[in-house]
Amino acid sequence: MSEVQLQTHRELIESRRKGHGMPGELFGRQDVFETDVEVFFHRLWIVVGVTADVPEAGDVHTVDIGKASIMIVRDDDENVRAFRNVCRHRGSRIIKKAGKASVGMLVCPYHQWTYDLDGSLRHSTHMGKDFDASCHSLIPVHVKTVGAHIFVCLADDPPADFEKLETVMAPRFAPYDLARTKIAHQMEIVENGNWKLVVENNRECYHCAGTHPELTNSFLAEDFGFCPDGQSEESLQSYDEYLKRNAACRENWEQDGYVCATFESVDEGVDTNFRTQRLVISGANESQTLDTKVACTKLLGGVERRDLGDVHMWGHHSWTHVMSDHAVIAYLLPLAPDKTLVRTVWLVHADAVEGVDYDLKRLTEVWIATTNQDAELVANAHAGTQDPAYIPGPFSNYTEAALDQFSRWYDAKLRAHGV
Ligand code: FES
Ligand SMILES: [Fe+2]
Repeated sequence: MSEVQLQTHRELIESRRKGHGMPGELFGRQDVFETDVEVFFHRLWIVVGVTADVPEAGDVHTVDIGKASIMIVRDDDENVRAFRNVCRHRGSRIIKKAGKASVGMLVCPYHQWTYDLDGSLRHSTHMGKDFDASCHSLIPVHVKTVGAHIFVCLADDPPADFEKLETVMAPRFAPYDLARTKIAHQMEIVENGNWKLVVENNRECYHCAGTHPELTNSFLAEDFGFCPDGQSEESLQSYDEYLKRNAACRENWEQDGYVCATFESVDEGVDTNFRTQRLVISGANESQTLDTKVACTKLLGGVERRDLGDVHMWGHHSWTHVMSDHAVIAYLLPLAPDKTLVRTVWLVHADAVEGVDYDLKRLTEVWIATTNQDAELVANAHAGTQDPAYIPGPFSNYTEAALDQFSRWYDAKLRAHGV
């Protein structure tokens, strides 16, 4: 039997046919996974939480990203800061478990070196008079908040084009005052699939009509592409109506000062990969609920009308929907070639009261069902791509163009980092 020669990461990328899916080894191989984590999660800006994860001074939210762990902290001046979760003494984790905690100071469990919320080392016993505590502050991590999103970048020199995202999103998020929200619900699920398959699944709605009965009550699959070939007269007519309604909605929103235009920065040259648009919701055009009406009667920020559609933003590992009454923010963190953590957070106005202003089931049922359905789709796809019989097939130019674009961007980013 001849020896099996493994292709390099670069060779695998080059082997992808234009307009086709990636070869299975890009999803399944451990070495590819480790490089992916380094390039796409340690060098680019990523979402790691929401401002409501750390509402009060002393709150800390710990997130593991590959081998790295970071602590997001609300300091005494209400600023959000982030630090590496690595003690400056002998490296112990300072916070042992990912997730939320409330602390006065950051105390290392090993020899009790104690850090202030600004990262400075305040107490360390038995180190002698020559020890300079000021040289042993926690290692800071670049952090920025945009709306409710907390973004971090682990690189020393973060990509400068993040500024574009901040500039584009600021006026779109501003009316909703997302910093004044609370977490009504959160869901963490480990999907049995590679992170790129989770992203691909999120970037197309080709699958929506056949798999997401709850979501398609409010989501218009036409927003994600439509091929007129072979469609019935009825469906062509309804597409025409969709276009007219969209145009009328947008005009009406723009007149009220709500930004609608699609903006995308997804080409090979960009580091910060994102897209945004204001999507029209079916029916009442209010919210992604089963009846398309608001689930929370206390609207976000200073918003006065309910029918504002959905301010949608996606990044290279996250997706956000902001409606008049609530926001849903989801992001993924890679755990293994075939394991991806997806965290979804439902945000409502900070003063909204469950049972009075909103019913939790109504608020969450669409995206809980959708997320579970997507998890199954991703697991199935991952398993199929690992089958020796898998041959990557063609994307639909109408509904999956964003996937080819993502594959090209993936290629370009790895090339830029020497892969
Ligand atoms: S490793 Fe943290 S105090 Fe020693
Ligand atoms: Fe889906």
